Amino acid sequence: MTDYQLKVHAESFGAVAAEYDRARPSYPIELLDTIEELTGRPLKGATVLDVGAGTGIATRLLRARGALVTAVEPSPGMAAQLHAVSPEIPLVKGDGNELPFHDATADLISYAQAFHWTEPDRSIPEALRVLRPGGALVLFWNLKDRSLPWLAEQEARLSAALPSYHYYGLMNAVTEPLGRYPFEVHNRVLRWERRITVEDVITDLRSKSYFAVAEPALRESVLAEERAALLEVFPDGEVTEPYSVDLTVAVKRD
Ligand SMILES: C[S@@+](CC[C@H](N)C(=O)[O-])C[C@H]1O[C@@H](n2cnc3c(N)ncnc32)[C@H](O)[C@@H]1O
Repeated sequence: MTDYQLKVHAESFGAVAAEYDRARPSYPIELLDTIEELTGRPLKGATVLDVGAGTGIATRLLRARGALVTAVEPSPGMAAQLHAVSPEIPLVKGDGNELPFHDATADLISYAQAFHWTEPDRSIPEALRVLRPGGALVLFWNLKDRSLPWLAEQEARLSAALPSYHYYGLMNAVTEPLGRYPFEVHNRVLRWERRITVEDVITDLRSKSYFAVAEPALRESVLAEERAALLEVFPDGEVTEPYSVDLTVAVKRD
């Protein structure tokens, strides 16, 4: 993707914020346990900036654990959805490449499904600046298990039909630069699954940036074909989606 295409995709979410909040997967509760284990501190009472908070899916989980979490989000549409659903969550308009916070003020900076939208050469130094000594940058992504035949077939259909289809296997590319900075880096993979309806699979797809930027007629015809293909595999309309959460915790050295 060119820088321009990346920017168009990164800014596409506002138009699909309601669909995003309704159908995107949340994260397994073990993720919070693992973050506590790898950072060596409880989330309860920790000052957390959840950057690229979107509609607040991860922000709400962190807050429920007792973290003092502020949502940071550049997209007005996503921020509006977050505020409508969770008005109690402090929300700041901001970008991971230029965090609007003072030096050494956060215990944790989290990016749920969002760090790949930043420029690591800017967002990593920004995180280091804003983290307290011993604080941690916490990056995670939900990834579908593409080895399952129905998911492999879906991917083949989408990549043939949509010019900007992409799968996020980019995690290594965006986390690898952490090694050049004063961090102690830990990685974990956590497997989990969810059961949803075919209609929610379609809503989830609708909230992907490669659908959000597609021309409307193309988007609707691809989604209609996808619905029909899914109903052939899942005639009762219920789908089990297997995920792994790819987690990187980078603890700032003192
Ligand atoms: C895939 S969504 C993730 C939302 C949420 N964290 C979640 O877990 O569902 C990616 C979010 O990153 C935001 N984003 C895009 N560019 C960004 C940047 N440079 N810095 C911070 N967030 C960015 C988008 O507006 C969008 O809300």
